[in-house]
Amino acid sequence: MNKYGVIYYTRTNNSKRVAEKIADQLSCELIQITDNINWKGIIGYLKAGFYSMTNKSVDIQFLGHLEAAEEYIIVGPLWAGGLASAMKTLLGQFPRDKVHLVVTSIGSHVEDRSGYLSVHDITSNTNNEDAVIEDLVKGLLTT
Ligand SMILES: Cc1cc2nc3c(=O)[nH]c(=O)nc-3n(C[C@H](O)[C@H](O)[C@H](O)COP(=O)(O)O)c2cc1C
Repeated sequence: MNKYGVIYYTRTNNSKRVAEKIADQLSCELIQITDNINWKGIIGYLKAGFYSMTNKSVDIQFLGHLEAAEEYIIVGPLWAGGLASAMKTLLGQFPRDKVHLVVTSIGSHVEDRSGYLSVHDITSNTNNEDAVIEDLVKGLLTT
C-alpha cells in the first residue's frame, strides 16, 4: 500500500497549486475531485456561500483512480467560514485519523479541527503557503 495520497478540490486553483506542491514533494499520487456544479462568477460565488452556510450536500466524483494509502492529505478551500461542500462530502468518506487536512483561505481558519492527524491553514493574507507546505512535508517524511 502507498504511504500517502493527495486529494484536492478547487474552485479557483489555489488548492490545486497547493496539492500539486505537496504531492510533488512527497512523490505520491495526486487526485482531483469534482462536484460537477458550475460555481463560476458572482452567481456561483453566492451559490457556493449559500451551499456552505446551509450545509447543502453535493455529490462528488474522483477524476482518476484513487489508490489505497495509509494516510491521505486532503486539500480544499474554506467557503463562508466552513469547508467547501465537496470537501464535506469527501471528508465523510475517510476516517479523520487517516487524514491530514489542508485548508486554503484568504485569512480564516477552519473551526472543526478535531480528530484529524493534522490540520494546516494556508492563508493568502499571510503568504504562508510555502512555509506551511514545508512544515507538513517535513513532518510526513520523518514519520
Ligand atoms: C463562497 C466563498 C466563500 C469564502 N469564504 C471565505 C471565508 O469565510 N474566509 C476566508 O478566509 N476565505 C474565504 N473564501 C476564499 C477562499 O477560501 C480562498 O480564496 C481559497 O483559497 C480558494 O481556494 P480554491 O482556489 O482552491 O478554490 C471564500 C471563497 C468562496 C468562493
